Amino acid sequence: MKKRGLIISFEGIDGCGKTTQAKLFYSRLKKRGMQVVLLNEPGGTYAGDKIRKILLDKKSEISPLCELFLYLASRAQLVGEMIRPCVKNGTTVILDRYVDSTIAYQGWGRGLPVPLIEHVHRAFASDVMPDITFLIDDTAENLLGVLDKKERDRIEGESVGFHEKVRNGYLRIAKRHRRRVKVIKRKTPGGTQAEIIKEWEIFINEFEGKQRVSRKNKKTG
Ligand code: TYD
Repeated sequence: MKKRGLIISFEGIDGCGKTTQAKLFYSRLKKRGMQVVLLNEPGGTYAGDKIRKILLDKKSEISPLCELFLYLASRAQLVGEMIRPCVKNGTTVILDRYVDSTIAYQGWGRGLPVPLIEHVHRAFASDVMPDITFLIDDTAENLLGVLDKKERDRIEGESVGFHEKVRNGYLRIAKRHRRRVKVIKRKTPGGTQAEIIKEWEIFINEFEGKQRVSRKNKKTG
């Protein structure tokens, strides 16, 4: 049987530097000979890129529910077109934002019911949940200063208060999923990367160890 690819997600509030970290991590795995892809949400497919435009356009006056279902629509397409096929063929998928973004932003940020979001997500993606998540954490006050005021998109343009709610939402998720979500305190890009690699080495050693045991048991069993 072909080995399943892993799913690794990068999360955090706007400005935390997770896109830089996801790219660095992708290059590192690729250099080590791993079959790996890097995907960014929302978007990543033809339809998803169109949905992304609506979501980030400052002129879009959309309700929280409409926003939620657009993020989920973009993701459902990405799961079917890219994530599931990659994972099945043994490719590791690195995601710059995934399910926890929706729970943190639309759930804790906008105040929509978290169980509803989890329920819909389970309906189309229960077989492709992240194996490990790096949550890059800092306060909204520190991070929003990093973003250029004029260039901010619809979500980035929200208040510090909104982003602080999102951050607390992320921290709740991390508490609930302690094994999967690794909270990485934001430092310099190099310092943050070193922390991520440290957590990754622990995870991958444990994961490969478990796989060796299960192969051995199958042979002897
Ligand atoms: P993007 O330009 O990709 O920003 P970033 O580099 O911070 O990921 O824009 C994505 C924006 O969409 C970001 O502000 C977070 C928001 N978002 C949600 O609100 N819910 C979601 O489910 C996802 C995936 C993103």
